[in-house]
Amino acid sequence: MQCVKKHALIYERGNIGMRIGFIGAGIISHTHAEAIKKIEGLTLVAAAEVLPERLKDFAEKHHVNTYIDYKEMVKSEVLDAVAISLPHYLHKESAVFCAEHGLHILLEKPMANTVEECAEILKATRQSGVVLMICHVQRYFSTNVAAKKIIDSGRLGKLVSITDVRNINYFVQSRPSWFLKKETAGGGIVMNYGVHSLDKIMFLTDSKVMHINGIIGKQMPNYDVEGHAQILLQLECGVTAVISYCGYNVPPINETILYFTEGTIKLHTGSELWVNQGDGYERIPIHSVGDQDAFAHQWQDFFQVVENGANNKNNGDYGMEIISSIEQIYNYCGFKNNIE
Ligand SMILES: NC(=O)c1ccc[n+]([C@@H]2O[C@H](COP(=O)([O-])OP(=O)(O)OC[C@H]3O[C@@H](n4cnc5c(N)ncnc54)[C@H](O)[C@@H]3O)[C@@H](O)[C@H]2O)c1
Repeated sequence: MQCVKKHALIYERGNIGMRIGFIGAGIISHTHAEAIKKIEGLTLVAAAEVLPERLKDFAEKHHVNTYIDYKEMVKSEVLDAVAISLPHYLHKESAVFCAEHGLHILLEKPMANTVEECAEILKATRQSGVVLMICHVQRYFSTNVAAKKIIDSGRLGKLVSITDVRNINYFVQSRPSWFLKKETAGGGIVMNYGVHSLDKIMFLTDSKVMHINGIIGKQMPNYDVEGHAQILLQLECGVTAVISYCGYNVPPINETILYFTEGTIKLHTGSELWVNQGDGYERIPIHSVGDQDAFAHQWQDFFQVVENGANNKNNGDYGMEIISSIEQIYNYCGFKNNIE
């Protein structure tokens, strides 16, 4: 198999380690690049990006060989793995291409725009035997890990329900325009943040979605993606959750509240954590916050899966399961028929 041949190069090169190529050098790629630099055994060697200015900027910051065409990069460079951080509609074709060329893949969320596309990616990665990890990053945030420890300790009794609220001015100029088109992003705030909410809820509860539906809405006449939504779901473990998004001109918040029989957890992913067990909230000290450490933990995990066959919790089946839930919400709302 092609990937076995390429993977063997890791050992031949000795301390160079796993050679990584980047596909897409946009906003999030820099967070990945900085994370990779923290991990011994990972080497960032090349990047492909269609916008020359971005490519130049990436090369200057991270010292890599550059390509406009990712297919040329894959064919010309000796790589072991790729990090794909492209607009959503390009996830399928790029992941399939890299799998066919024997490269392990860390693919940004959402896995793809539809379950059908996810299935094509899964088929290609299984056929070539490469590792596919989806960047569901929630399990790597220290705040979320600390929250899970409290849940698992049982000190707050039984977890019964969750509310997850994310409000942000979604339709801002700084957001890459492809995010605001159904054709390129697959949807709006639900596609983009729904994958994070579902990943967070499934990670915290160790459970899967059993039922899901919701109402989405569009208030921005110039855009064909939804800007607000309320989603209701029930997990296999019996816990129920409500996810609420408002993407208009409102104060930002990213807050998850977990209700137990004996208390409450208030979680701000990547920043703060509080516990209530009677009187008021007690703030829980967190040793590291923010994206950087979470992304580094994710790359460490990816490395372990490729090198040592460690359990891949964010595998393609998990990514597809999440897209299936998102599709169910859109189908429930008749979104595909443009019902507002
Ligand atoms: N895990 C997270 O927390 C997180 C955070 C932000 C974004 N993301 C995800 O990362 C991905 C990228 O998001 P972003 O915010 O960086 O977007 P972005 O628009 O800043 O980056 C995408 C880049 O891909 C480039 N591109 C487009 N077509 C290309 C092609 N054929 N070949 C090479 N490059 C091409 C674009 O020019 C752009 O620079 C999305 O899937 C997004 O949902 C994940």
